[in-house]
Amino acid sequence: MCGIIGYAGRSEAVPILLDGLERLEYRGYDSAGVAVVSPENELQVVKTKGRLSVLREHLAEQDPLKGQIGIGHTRWATHGEPNDTNAHPHVGADGKIAVVHNGIIENYLEIRASLERKGIHFASETDTEVIAQLMEYYYRKLGNLMNAVYAVLGRIQGAYAMGILCRDVPGQMIAARKDAPLLIGYGEDGNYIASDVTALLAHTRTVTYMEDGEVAVLTADSVQIYDRERAPIDREKHTVDWDVSAAEKGGYAHFMLKEIMEQGEAVRKTVSPRLQDGRIVLPELAESAEFLKGIRKINIVACGSAYHVGMVGKYVLEKLLRIPVDAYLASEFRYSEPLLGEDTLVIVISQSGETLDSMAALREAKKGGSKVLSIVNVMGSSIARESDIVLYTWAGPEIAVATTKAYTTQMVLLIMLGIYMADVNGRVAADEYAALVNGITELPEKIESLLGDVDICQKAASHYFNRNSVFFIGRNLDYALGLEGSLKLKEISYIHSESYAAGELKHGTISLIEPGTLVVALATYAPLLEKTRSNIVEVRSRGADVIVVATEETAPAVRDQATELLIIPSTHPLLQPVLGVMPLQIFAYYVALNRGCDIDKPRNLAKSVTVE
Ligand code: G6P
Repeated sequence: MCGIIGYAGRSEAVPILLDGLERLEYRGYDSAGVAVVSPENELQVVKTKGRLSVLREHLAEQDPLKGQIGIGHTRWATHGEPNDTNAHPHVGADGKIAVVHNGIIENYLEIRASLERKGIHFASETDTEVIAQLMEYYYRKLGNLMNAVYAVLGRIQGAYAMGILCRDVPGQMIAARKDAPLLIGYGEDGNYIASDVTALLAHTRTVTYMEDGEVAVLTADSVQIYDRERAPIDREKHTVDWDVSAAEKGGYAHFMLKEIMEQGEAVRKTVSPRLQDGRIVLPELAESAEFLKGIRKINIVACGSAYHVGMVGKYVLEKLLRIPVDAYLASEFRYSEPLLGEDTLVIVISQSGETLDSMAALREAKKGGSKVLSIVNVMGSSIARESDIVLYTWAGPEIAVATTKAYTTQMVLLIMLGIYMADVNGRVAADEYAALVNGITELPEKIESLLGDVDICQKAASHYFNRNSVFFIGRNLDYALGLEGSLKLKEISYIHSESYAAGELKHGTISLIEPGTLVVALATYAPLLEKTRSNIVEVRSRGADVIVVATEETAPAVRDQATELLIIPSTHPLLQPVLGVMPLQIFAYYVALNRGCDIDKPRNLAKSVTVE
């Protein structure tokens, strides 16, 4: 969703802002803009609807905006349609203060009305303009920028990460945060703010995560953070271990393809530090053995693909732990008066660590007295910081909107957690434990061998890319896998697609099957192979074309029913979905490629969904 970059330094700001905005593009946006204070202390603003290329054109048409301090923004419209006026930065009526903002100001209508009564005229429909206008109002009244900033923060309600420039204080950039991510970067040629670390990687890997209620003042040479009471505070600096190449395409046509191909390495990085002498080692849980023994129920809560990981987790953890495990969509969980308490563990799964519904569900869980363990990819993110225990996936930055390597690493880590907990509770026999650990150890190589040959998936995609509707079917773990396969396909190719538990077909869906309907049947879960085979026969006999995904072990039993057969390496049945998702990702990718879709930035979607 919206992205922020800001720079105060000794180099020209515009190229740095544009580069930062380009690296934030993946989050999804519909307009973009920059504000720069010139050497003559003028506040210059250029903003426009559309892609960054349009902003670049606008900037090129004018004299290059000179200035070494500036803020930039990519906007994903919430209040007011995407147009030039509603784009950020927003400037107050006196033309002195410019603001970029992520989040939503809940009481903006009331503040707007009170400012309008004072004769202040608004140009846009946005909640953000209220911040700029109110700040100028207080600045006029109080005569001091920091006083005005704190006065505004005292009036507004809601979520914000913001960058502020004032032409009267030309060397200073001010940042403020509450319930929306914002970090500070310390570079050699100046200092930065950004909503997302990927915007900074080209300049610095030394960062500080701002906390709720804090305000920071940045100049070319200094950074000072203040708390809610305006007392200066020292905050620890972190070194981000992602490097800039991890956030670049590196010769691939799309980030999605690159990230699919990185899955072997991402899984290796996530699992190998946690495997020692045939044991799963989770130092994050070292102090929690007694707590883990007392857990009677697990709720897994997440959105989108992370929820689909939760569905896999429901099946796997329940089998391993023999306690009830449920997977919930965070947007439903938070309003469902969930049954919580000390003996219920809530597991929140999130790549970004910033998804608003997942965050709200986390808070609900804590309020209800449950401990929250999160599985998160982005270090220092809000969900990671508010959880009682965090297990990080080490997938590296994920840029494509459609998740691949984050999904896979989340799944492996969740399964490892399940095995670890089953062991602590004495629920897993030694030979089964060894078989699972062995399976996990072998996963990276199996993934690499699978991804080394994608021709058959690519060919299947070129046969079927023009279908209007696709059904995914499977049972148990294969059902959970189908949910993700179907989402991958629809989100990037815009083909209508649904996923069904194969046993449920005859209760309705089978009426949709007619000659030529495309069905993707997942037959990777060996314990239910015969049942799934019967369902494949049912759709085949009604004329469906069936792409069957099977393992080396299950393929012989389904080969005769498959229009196309995609074979993946076999592993322990509980780990099979880790490999099973890959042909589905590749199929979706090549279908979308054949259809000429914008694969990395599908229409209407955002990478990190920070609104409800
Ligand atoms: C968006 C992304 C999905 C992701 C979901 C949850 O919809 O496009 O790929 O699964 O958000 O995001 P999170 O960062 O919480 O995993």
